[in-house]
Amino acid sequence: MIMSKEALIKSIREIADFPIPGILFYDVTTLFKDAERLQELSDTMYEMYKDKGITKVVGIESRGFIMGPILATRLNAGFVPIRKPGKLPAETIEESYDKEYGKDTVQIHKDAIDENDIILLHDDLLATGGTMEAACKLVKKLRPKKVYVNFIIELKELNGRSVFGNDVEVESVLSL
Ligand code: PRP
Ligand code: MG
Repeated sequence: MIMSKEALIKSIREIADFPIPGILFYDVTTLFKDAERLQELSDTMYEMYKDKGITKVVGIESRGFIMGPILATRLNAGFVPIRKPGKLPAETIEESYDKEYGKDTVQIHKDAIDENDIILLHDDLLATGGTMEAACKLVKKLRPKKVYVNFIIELKELNGRSVFGNDVEVESVLSL
């Protein structure tokens, strides 16, 4: 299939002043609802990671729970959720991070990943990088063999990419 990044970008709806004034929200639900675009996104992500030996896709609640499992099935990998506090039922480990106002925390099941795993950590959007940085630290605590980091959209201007070390490969489908 010939991939058209232009078409993918066009299918993302921009909403001004959501969820708070001054924020331009990139709404990927308009991409997801379009069967052709969704297939194209899935194909593109599959091509990016098909030869990496990924054993588990880890998705970040909540918008990382959409393409995460789709990609996991395409890659014949398992799926692991990173969730907000108090949602996972078994023993967890956690990582806290600073948000614009106050702190936030992410958790993962302690037995979700082991040293044989090659992890693809996925979220919909890279803004400041705070969320993914915390998720990445969390996953690394479980000592997988390797970690890849993937986003559908990267907001270049915010330079969120700078929070990651050289030991992780960071890739986005679309740079805006
Ligand atoms: C959004 C987005 C990313 C994160 C990116 O999630 O889905 O997870 O913010 O921002 P950052 O790079 O500055 O950390 P949000 O916290 O709004 O929650 P949601 O996915 O549950 O909607
Ligand atoms: Mg999110």
